[in-house]
Amino acid sequence: MCGIFGYIGKKINAGEIVFEGLKFLEYRGYDSWGVAVMPSEVNPKKNSEIFIEKKAGKIGTSTISDMPRANISFGHTRWATHGKVTTINAHPHLDCTKRIALVHNGIIENYEEIKRKLIKKGHKFISETDSEVAVHLIEDYMKSMDIESATRHAFLEFEGLNAFIVMNSGDEKILAVRNGSPLVIGYGKNENFLASDASAILTHTRTVHFINDFEMAILSKEKIIVKNVHTARLVLAKRVNLDWKTDFSDLGQYPNFMFKEINEQSQLIFNIAKSSAKLIQEIADIIKTRKNCYLLGCGSASYVAIAGSYLFAKLAKKQMNPAVGSEFGYQLDFLNKDSLVIALSQSGETMDILESVKKAKENRASIVAITNTVGSTLYREADYKLPLNAGIEISVASTKALTAKLSYLILIAHALAGNMKEGNNMLLKAGRSTEKLLGKDSLKKIKKLAKKLKNSKNIFVIGRGLSYPASLETAIKIKEIAYIHAEGMAAGELKHGPLALVEKGTPCISFLPNDETYGANLAGAMEMKARRGFIIGISAKPHEVFDYYLHVEDAGVATIIPNIITGQLLAYYLATIKNLDPDKPRNLAKSVTVK
Ligand code: AGP
Ligand code: GLU
Repeated sequence: MCGIFGYIGKKINAGEIVFEGLKFLEYRGYDSWGVAVMPSEVNPKKNSEIFIEKKAGKIGTSTISDMPRANISFGHTRWATHGKVTTINAHPHLDCTKRIALVHNGIIENYEEIKRKLIKKGHKFISETDSEVAVHLIEDYMKSMDIESATRHAFLEFEGLNAFIVMNSGDEKILAVRNGSPLVIGYGKNENFLASDASAILTHTRTVHFINDFEMAILSKEKIIVKNVHTARLVLAKRVNLDWKTDFSDLGQYPNFMFKEINEQSQLIFNIAKSSAKLIQEIADIIKTRKNCYLLGCGSASYVAIAGSYLFAKLAKKQMNPAVGSEFGYQLDFLNKDSLVIALSQSGETMDILESVKKAKENRASIVAITNTVGSTLYREADYKLPLNAGIEISVASTKALTAKLSYLILIAHALAGNMKEGNNMLLKAGRSTEKLLGKDSLKKIKKLAKKLKNSKNIFVIGRGLSYPASLETAIKIKEIAYIHAEGMAAGELKHGPLALVEKGTPCISFLPNDETYGANLAGAMEMKARRGFIIGISAKPHEVFDYYLHVEDAGVATIIPNIITGQLLAYYLATIKNLDPDKPRNLAKSVTVK
């Protein structure tokens, strides 16, 4: 899950072009960054060493020193898996001759045995990464073959899910090869591009090809050819023209992307409420025909999966099994041609989801992709596709994409029950409730609460029914951007252990929507209150048990949406009050493309 950008073409400021492309991709991984440029006819030292500039730290705060003029370059923003976050471990990595450069996304699972063999052959390593093994193995193969064959042979020796980008000084081309980690190539006029995310290419070209597993793209100034890695035979690249908006990188009046994306949600909910019923009904009709259905997600998406299981049970009397992507392998025995796996993924590149979907397909299950990234691996692998159309989501903390997933599941569950109109009405209520939540007075009240909680060591978040996944989601947001330990749980579970942790002043956020769970949720709040916990009530009406009350207008079964948005806002204010970067939290990345 890193950012990769490459340029080859007529312009001679290739290094700067790449550096700007990486800045856009930073949300995919931001421990460190690096850029390589190849000396070429515009640079007097033809066939000389490749120039590298790389640094530990976020690229957003960096500047690039004067790069040699060149028309071939690629770069990388890293999310470390092997080796500390240091400048030496940053990519690109060079071979012993410094004439081959490589960047890598993924994990080379068998790197240690290959490294041992290469060391015996005299290769010198300077980093702790698995990635550096790749460039030395290519160097080794180049003793008996050209760069293309050497890259193919090295790639086929690796185990794991990876993408490599390679250049060899003197060869006026960039090679890109993948198995698992996303890569896309862009077709320009006398210039070509590559990136780990199509949106980074859009300012240069909208004509792209999403590289498939075991394909190698060879980019030159004039053209791009694609070959099969196993056979080296030419492959017909499927060019698509992307009509995506490109204004997403404009913050407008917002201080950061997370707050911008939180504020886009009310309009997004209204848009989805009016979205085409046809696709929603199609998905509902597919679900109707399947005996066993699974809702699959990771992290926040897994909480949407739990919410979905409650929604389909409550609204359509349909059993949907929620599943965590990284654990799904243990359910495969139940899959067959009558199974349906609905994969929920903003990026469409989450490796735990892709791996699960691959195994599900091997067990003849059908796949529905509900994703925000058209053209992503998940989108392309799925039998049925429901794009979220939430607009690109830059902040690592998923907000609007998560709300979109929930909104579509609410519509599909109503469609399954033959009651789509009611689903639309619920979403309109949720949109109106969210508008009020994003109003000045409400934001002020949430911010004031954040000031009270900013030094907390532990926060409990509890709820029953749909408020249980809402609690899990609120807790993950507080953890991932405010770095405060928060535990979300089913309110009924409090008395089975966690209550022992409650002492005077322990913050307890309790969701109490105006539904059949209200009484039981109140009981949970009372249990905490009896242990002198500090009770934060999120509800349509106040109650004397609340030490702090946040009003959320009722939206029926869709109240989970404004409830979750309340949690997003609380986490956001906790982070900003603590002077943390809400868009790029430490240790995380936007798209987790490693297992
Ligand atoms: C959400 O705030 C987190 N960044 C994380 O849990 C995320 O939801 C998870 O990694 C799944 O991402 P996806 O939706 O792109 O598959
Ligand atoms: N495994 C490689 C490393 O740790 C690549 C990580 C990434 O995808 O950014 O450097």
